[in-house]
Amino acid sequence: MKNLRIKNILFSKEDIESIIKKIADQISCDYNEQQIDALTVICVLKGAAVFASDLIRHIELSDIRLEFITASSYLNSDTSSGEVILNVADDLAVFGKNILIVEDIVDTGLTLNKIVKQFKAFNPNTIKVCTLFDKPDRRIADFTPDYVGCTIPDEFIVGYGLDYAEMYRNLPYVAVVGE
Ligand code: XMP
Ligand code: MG
Repeated sequence: MKNLRIKNILFSKEDIESIIKKIADQISCDYNEQQIDALTVICVLKGAAVFASDLIRHIELSDIRLEFITASSYLNSDTSSGEVILNVADDLAVFGKNILIVEDIVDTGLTLNKIVKQFKAFNPNTIKVCTLFDKPDRRIADFTPDYVGCTIPDEFIVGYGLDYAEMYRNLPYVAVVGE
């Protein structure tokens, strides 16, 4: 494991707060327009835990549920193809529900591609994806999130839930790490 250190802060605590309020307003507005008041937010652990918990406090809908899933990706460095393993509770209700998947960052897109395919098979009423950060330059899978907090260049970031080797999730800001 490389010994990486914090290089520079990309988003301050205040930047993140305003990004989240903006996405939450967009979400509230879109669902209200479609007269949908019940939403099942599915947080992809562990990275999106901090984001999802702040986001749901800013969405204005009358019935918001919070569920969690885990996703781990094993990337094969030779081929750049990835295998994604999902862990979903058996009693997670999807059929006929309005599902909003919340992720910390979209990179290759392989994880969300698999998650969305899997959930679509259970016939939700609607399914959308919200990500705090997006690195479109790294995309392998054909995947476009519905809500994006901020598009960032191809750099490894930590903080506000995002980790390097399980560290830095607790930082209130988001920073670039490097050698
Ligand atoms: P995909 O399948 O889109 O996977 O390649 C997205 C997952 O990759 C992790 N990831 C990061 N984690 N800083 C992180 O802490 C980053 O810059 C970063 N880029 C990708 C993350 O777990 C995300 O859910
Ligand atoms: Mg993640």
